[in-house]
Amino acid sequence: MIQKLTIARPDDWHLHLRDGAMLEAVLPETARHFARAIIMPNLVPPVVTGAQAAAYKDRIVAALPNDMSFEPLMTLYLTEDSDPEDIAAAHATGLIKAVKLYPAGATTNSASGVADFKNVRASLEKMAEIGLPLCVHGEVTHDDVDIFDREAVFIDTVLDPIRKATPGLRVIMEHITTKDGVAYVQDHATDLGATITTHHLIINRNHILVGGIKPHYYCLPVAKREEHRLALRAAATSGDKRFFLGTDSAPHLDGDKESACGCAGCFTATNTMALLAHVFEEDGALDTLEGFASRNGPQFYGLPVNDETITLVKNEQATVFPGKIESANGPVTVFDPGYDVFWTVAD
Ligand code: NCD
Ligand code: ZN
Repeated sequence: MIQKLTIARPDDWHLHLRDGAMLEAVLPETARHFARAIIMPNLVPPVVTGAQAAAYKDRIVAALPNDMSFEPLMTLYLTEDSDPEDIAAAHATGLIKAVKLYPAGATTNSASGVADFKNVRASLEKMAEIGLPLCVHGEVTHDDVDIFDREAVFIDTVLDPIRKATPGLRVIMEHITTKDGVAYVQDHATDLGATITTHHLIINRNHILVGGIKPHYYCLPVAKREEHRLALRAAATSGDKRFFLGTDSAPHLDGDKESACGCAGCFTATNTMALLAHVFEEDGALDTLEGFASRNGPQFYGLPVNDETITLVKNEQATVFPGKIESANGPVTVFDPGYDVFWTVAD
């Protein structure tokens, strides 16, 4: 039985760091284990221009403790007013690694997202031309589509038409939550990848709703039925290079989660790697963890795999994770898998 596993230092291909006091509180949680992360641009106001991304990157680097190293991989938030030339310029300098598409109203801070896709055609075409990937929050937002169906409907009515209309556009379906998402990736070529979160490998919708509502399990896209969770597990542990880790670690203050209108987002930066070791071991797939967390992502983005390593260790005693991270504005609850985990990341 493996008690120790050394893998290339992982990266997180979908991360929310926020800004100000929250950024300071959560950045070390990611930088402790991860070398790089794709930084989501859904600040208020959103990170739309290259200049805004450069300024945000500077704030992230300034918030990093001196004894830690971490490279933020910046993204731009696609709006109907985005300037294709500004996007291309930010890509040419190496500042940004992707552009993020939020359908308007889909999730936290997505009011500036895209409502009419013909208004982003020029940006998408420019991205296809220069090889800049599009990260997609894949949910429709129409009132008449059930929240549990929004990913599957998005694939058919938005994603597939966008891809067909934009040959050569590389797309990352972010935080897929359904067997439909898994199948769509599997059925297509190498210009399509998908990130999977840690928490969607662990919880299904019962965890949110049975025995009392659990606001810390509420995120978007919302966790679906068990059959979908199992499809995600199979995809993540399969070794298929098109699936890779994007934690979608999304911190909100406890007061904003434990509310009559609770925010969407699970905060998993702190214990993600230990939880993944548990999940992959449970599925007899520890040999594919390095691909999922450390190799497939860089390959899709055309970046080198990290030279450094981390070592995961399985102990006799259950690991004690902090229940909360303190920020200057209040606590943030760390995702609780609901069972004991014996893995930890060695110092
Ligand atoms: C994210 C957030 O809080 O910014 N929330 C979430 O539930 N995942 C936004 C997002 O990625 O959808
Ligand atoms: Zn997210």
